[in-house]
Amino acid sequence: MSARSDRQIQVALGTRSYDIHIGAGLLETAGTYIAPLLFRPRTVIVTDETVATLHLTRLQEGLAAAGIAVDSVILPPGEATKSFPQLEHLCTALLDHGVERQDMVIALGGGVIGDLTGFAAAILRRGIDFIQIPTTLLAQVDSSVGGKTGINTRQGKNLVGAFHQPRLVLADLSILRTLPRRELLGGYAEVVKYAVLGDSDFFEWLEAHGAEVRAGDSAALAHAVEISCRMKASVVAADEREGGGRALLNLGHTFGHALEAATGFSDRLSHGEAVAVGMGLALDLSERLGHAPPGTAARLRAHLKAAGLPAHPDEIPGPPLAVPELLHHMRQDKKARQGTLVFILVRGMGEAFIADDVPPAEIEAVLSGAALQDTVS
Ligand SMILES: NC(=O)c1ccc[n+]([C@@H]2O[C@H](COP(=O)([O-])OP(=O)(O)OC[C@H]3O[C@@H](n4cnc5c(N)ncnc54)[C@H](O)[C@@H]3O)[C@@H](O)[C@H]2O)c1
Ligand SMILES: [Zn+2]
Repeated sequence: MSARSDRQIQVALGTRSYDIHIGAGLLETAGTYIAPLLFRPRTVIVTDETVATLHLTRLQEGLAAAGIAVDSVILPPGEATKSFPQLEHLCTALLDHGVERQDMVIALGGGVIGDLTGFAAAILRRGIDFIQIPTTLLAQVDSSVGGKTGINTRQGKNLVGAFHQPRLVLADLSILRTLPRRELLGGYAEVVKYAVLGDSDFFEWLEAHGAEVRAGDSAALAHAVEISCRMKASVVAADEREGGGRALLNLGHTFGHALEAATGFSDRLSHGEAVAVGMGLALDLSERLGHAPPGTAARLRAHLKAAGLPAHPDEIPGPPLAVPELLHHMRQDKKARQGTLVFILVRGMGEAFIADDVPPAEIEAVLSGAALQDTVS
């Protein structure tokens, strides 16, 4: 696909606005997008070992073709890389490569590399520019857009970070061909999230064409990534720093984070799987409180099941999870405000809203109704 046949979305943030390009083969043509943004024709690519083996050379060649000199920093793959030690390592490596205030660095990877590189860019020389080249479906539809960057500490995920918007996002759909199935499905759960929270037509489209998306069909993937990015871009443009509406993007995440915590952030349950199960519970809660018509949760679950995602807590492998423990994790959630839990609920498919007045007994009832254990084992 040529550089001109891609799909383009603008994230409208005044002087910090930027474009998202979505298309197949963008690594090869990356230089034509990036060269005009550079102060001088050089850059540093930050990536992880897995992505480096699979895709780094193509990006290096794509940049070299536009006369850009390239260095690279290759970090270990995995969530543990979003850490203070790796942040220090990355910042000093970038300085060793001679990165100056007006230079730009490139994050080539999933959300881990994007979040860490974005944060390093936010603080290096008091802030340099960066570009996102997301390589997972989750990163293409979610983490690469919106400017949240950061690392984890022993107290929890994403507790140290900064808002720092990228200057450009290049979502190359061909990169997703090498993505392990489980990673692809995790990203698909976030795609479904956009449909459920704001676009019932898109949900219908996913019911008809989701299998093509998950099979890697270029046209279907391009549509799913585009619609998802459009929604994220518009939510972020309206509420960059999550004073209000951006919280809608947390649909399924209050339950999801509690499920991830209760399973020890382990292989038992990935983030996307937790969001899938969490969305089902959020829709149960919406129905229980009389906000959504009966059958809304069942329709979502049927789709998640067809996609090969868990839709119900009892589909999480291992011993059943305990309701009190999940409630405890929910109260720890960083979105809890003065003890009140904030939930994203729906009035129907595609109509999410923020609810901060959900009685704890109703949450407990939904969890108990989900056939979890009522007591801590
Ligand atoms: N900033 C935000 O707004 C935001 C939003 C959502 C999630 N996140 C963060 O994103 C992170 C999760 O991102 P992720 O799911 O992309 O995980 P990830 O970056 O760990 O990537 C998942 C795995 O896939 C590998 N990989 C990446 N691209 C590949 C490819 N094309 N082919 C083969 N393997 C590939 C990686 O090496 C890694 O092992 C979390 O840290 C989360 O907190 C941030
Ligand atoms: Zn998520």
